Amino acid sequence: MIYLDNHATTRCDPRVVDAMLPWLSEHYGNPHSNHEPGQYSKSAIDQAVSKIATLLNADHESIVMTSGATESNNLAIRGVCTHPRQKRRHIVTVTSEHPAVLDVTADLEKEGFRVTRVPVLQAGKPDAGVIDLDRFSEAVDDDTALVSVMWANNEIGAIAPMKEIAEITHRHGAFLHSDATQAVGRINVDVMAADVDLLSATAHKFYGPKGIGLLVAGNSNRRVRVRPQIIGGGQQRGLRSGTLNTAGIVALATALQLCVESLDEENVRVNQLRDHLWSRLKESIDGLVLNGPELHCGHRLPGNLNLSLSDVEGQAWMSAAPEIAFSSGSACSGADAAPSHVLTALGLSESAARRSVRFGIGRFNTIDQIDSAFEILVAAHEQLATLAG
Ligand SMILES: Cc1ncc(COP(=O)(O)O)c(C=O)c1O
Repeated sequence: MIYLDNHATTRCDPRVVDAMLPWLSEHYGNPHSNHEPGQYSKSAIDQAVSKIATLLNADHESIVMTSGATESNNLAIRGVCTHPRQKRRHIVTVTSEHPAVLDVTADLEKEGFRVTRVPVLQAGKPDAGVIDLDRFSEAVDDDTALVSVMWANNEIGAIAPMKEIAEITHRHGAFLHSDATQAVGRINVDVMAADVDLLSATAHKFYGPKGIGLLVAGNSNRRVRVRPQIIGGGQQRGLRSGTLNTAGIVALATALQLCVESLDEENVRVNQLRDHLWSRLKESIDGLVLNGPELHCGHRLPGNLNLSLSDVEGQAWMSAAPEIAFSSGSACSGADAAPSHVLTALGLSESAARRSVRFGIGRFNTIDQIDSAFEILVAAHEQLATLAG
């Protein structure tokens, strides 16, 4: 199996596993207990959260540990919009967001909020898939409670201009949330420099384990009032009750540190592998189209490749190349494969979206794997094209 689906999840780095194991087996004290084993766990958590805060340039006190980005997005969006002191009733988001944002805002719409979904720049433009800033500045108004814009897109890798978005948002006195799930650990994410008020991330996208994530809620420029969504023992300043996951938090901090330390070097390498795959596929398969921003325009995630075939559906290509893990431009639910809303938001037809696939190259991929994947993919495509012809 050649794993080329690093936007879906990543392999937990063995160094991260080593760092987390003692907190499962040897040091298992409840960090909320006052005895010595509990306090030992608590101090490990404090150190890990400090490390995370430094790496993201965020305040230690603003970090809330969660079970992952879905929970963080729910806490940020529902938490800000439904706080008893919140009088504003408008939310601004983007058509290409993850369902963990789109579905939460749609839910609030049913509860009486007005939601504006800003379009992205259309296919054919060099920065296709990036938020349309003109339409965005028209959308934000003085009734806007929250703007939620993803830092980087999980399908086409489009990177948002967060600083400009923050300026427009704050001009209207609204808060800015960013689902930075695909950005953290892959590109430089600096909460203070971007002036983002709330930020979601999850460890399993940057070589950490699944089930541990974080929300940054507030920065030193602005205090954010968040209504808790999980109520119970009052842990984490009452913002998210539940016993803290010591091993997971240590793992997230370790994974993030490893990513930040090797970011530039690793990005050069994954981009070389991605470019190699793209140029070989393009030479061998007629009519391939790149979806999303141009590869080296500065608005695309390293290692991301999303393309449309002219003649074969992505799902069929995946089935014909089972030795490779990649994903198709349709979210398959049972027999009915709906075309990706991200690709249709770019202006692609449903048919072109169905003929699309996404590759995510990551830390553990090698040039030999890319060459083998290329051979398998071309053979699978030839087989399907012959059948269709
Ligand atoms: C952009 C984005 N947001 C949110 C999520 C959900 O993250 P989690 O699996 O940690 O809930 C994902 C993962 O698929 C994602 O790519």
